[in-house]
Amino acid sequence: MQSWLRTIRLNEFSQQVGNTVTVNGWVFRHRDHGGIVFIDLRDRFGIAQLMIDPSISADVHKNASEIKSEYVIAAKGLVQRRVGVPEKAKYENTEVELVVKELEILSRSATLPFALTEETQQAGENLRLQYRFLDLRRPQIRDKVLGRIHLTRCMRKAMDEAGFLDTETPLLYKSTPEGAREFLVPSRIHPGHFYALPQSPQLFKQVLMVAGFDRYYQVVKCFRDEDLRADRQPEFTQLDCEMSFCDQELIMQTFEQITAQGVGEYLGKTLKTPFQRMTYQEAMESYGVDKPDLRFELKLQNISDLVENSSFKVFSEVVQHEGIVNALVVKGVAEKFSRKDIDQMADLVKNHGLKGLAWMKKQAGSGVASWQSPIAKFFDDTGVAAIEKRLGVGENDLVLFGAGPYGSTKAGLGTLRNYLGKHLGLYDPLEYKFAWIHDFPCFERDSGSGRWMAVHHPFTSPMVEDIHLMDTAPEKVRAASYDLVLNGNEIAGGSVRIHNAELQQKVFKLMGMTEEDARAKFGFLLDALKFGPPPHGGMAYGLDRMAMILTQSESIREVIAFPKTNTGMCLMTGSPTPVTQDQLIDLHIRVRDLRVE
Ligand code: AMO
Ligand code: AMP
Repeated sequence: MQSWLRTIRLNEFSQQVGNTVTVNGWVFRHRDHGGIVFIDLRDRFGIAQLMIDPSISADVHKNASEIKSEYVIAAKGLVQRRVGVPEKAKYENTEVELVVKELEILSRSATLPFALTEETQQAGENLRLQYRFLDLRRPQIRDKVLGRIHLTRCMRKAMDEAGFLDTETPLLYKSTPEGAREFLVPSRIHPGHFYALPQSPQLFKQVLMVAGFDRYYQVVKCFRDEDLRADRQPEFTQLDCEMSFCDQELIMQTFEQITAQGVGEYLGKTLKTPFQRMTYQEAMESYGVDKPDLRFELKLQNISDLVENSSFKVFSEVVQHEGIVNALVVKGVAEKFSRKDIDQMADLVKNHGLKGLAWMKKQAGSGVASWQSPIAKFFDDTGVAAIEKRLGVGENDLVLFGAGPYGSTKAGLGTLRNYLGKHLGLYDPLEYKFAWIHDFPCFERDSGSGRWMAVHHPFTSPMVEDIHLMDTAPEKVRAASYDLVLNGNEIAGGSVRIHNAELQQKVFKLMGMTEEDARAKFGFLLDALKFGPPPHGGMAYGLDRMAMILTQSESIREVIAFPKTNTGMCLMTGSPTPVTQDQLIDLHIRVRDLRVE
């Protein structure tokens, strides 16, 4: 064995005082203090200081003077307590250092395109993604990816212990254009035929239940060709789960325990169960979104009935046209918010289609005189008193009003609520608040085609007591589905599945699929459902999103080793790229740019 091989990792460094050790790693920082060279050496496990004194070895010192950032070196020497007071501790192991007796340069580094030592990175994200292998060396980024790996391990352990079987399913799947747009893979052997990359292993896991596997899970890549955002990637990872012989209650209890165990182990603390539960209806009413951040109160309140006949046309006309007027009461902040601040908030709600954001600052006194507000002139003392009573308004409160159709008013104020929560620091960022949202509608009309679509997916069972409404009022049918929400993010979703071929056909029919369509797309499922399917259901965690929240990241890109940009590109490898003519010929494909025709 080579003499330069490490005998310890850098997390073991501080326990080695008095021992001779060999360490390997990257040169993170180096500085020359009047002859003595100090190097901060970094490996995956930690950082350690090396001290190179010319009086100990002139050869080693000469070698050290060649060293530059990110060189890979091996150093052998004695671990000793540092003499004198260490500089302000930036990293671990500040009390000990290695007095280097032998030093070897194992490989050299070109000049870096950006510094790795800064905590807030100055270089743009694109440059960092292009050199992702360098960015991943930065302790802050590395720790996020390591956090994800740890979380995955904890969740797998919880799944294993609950008797779920880690089963692989194919990535070359069949095109079933539902939900999001698919990524297609042309077949060489079957000209003009395509595989699709799965949006999720939904039907394979259901078929595994029919096959008697009882409990399944998989950490699996899913592919969706949709518009990307901070919490969406075209390929992302699910912890996908399914179980047999269960009802909705048993599924929710099972995954609540698994979540509490896995995330609890990750965080190193006991999570409180049961998690809060809330209907979809309640979430929309009070928080304006179906994934409420429950770390803070600040609920949306309805005042439609109080302003229906007011002389402020914006409010009264909205209510007369079946819209709503809702308010957010932000306690004790009226003085803090300038006109400009309120205009900025108005932009947030305008993004959701509202025309404006009315507001009121409550000053001392009572009646209209106490309202500093552009809409005060439209109200009298009685109107003001009724609104204040309903909303529980006190002096120096800021009240924000949104008026419009139900959907955009809720969404606008819901976004505003999240903004205010963050902006005003209404919660502890290290608190983790889980909640189940349930009783979702089963079907909704597609705004473009007017067709009925499944809100979750078409394999979700309607609630048994609502099945009769499918023929008369599909919008009223509730689904046996549920989402798991964490700090305002949907981290998992699932449902009880239909395990009856006729009901499945009925759902396909409601969605405008003929029997032939349904057979062509989902024949294998309909067949499987004929041969003794067990009652079954499950859910899938968005592992990237969970890791994003639990590592306190702003975007899922931070917890993915090799993420794609918002335009779906991998800047490191440069994909997607054109391919050669020969490859296309093999696949029986000719590329024509229809955009220019
Ligand atoms: P669903 O579509 O709700 O359910 O997905 C499950 C979870 O996956 C995460 N997620 C995403 N994460 C990153 N990028 C994306 N583009 C993306 N899309 C979804 C979310 C979501 O909660 N087969 C069903 C599950 C089931 O019924 O068992 C499914 O895929 O956190
Ligand atoms: P206007 O009469 O259009 O000048 O509006 C008076 C106030 O009502 C302004 O503060 C607007 O921002 C606000 N406003 C306008 N449309 C809406 C709306 N749909 N919801 C809430 N406030 C609105």
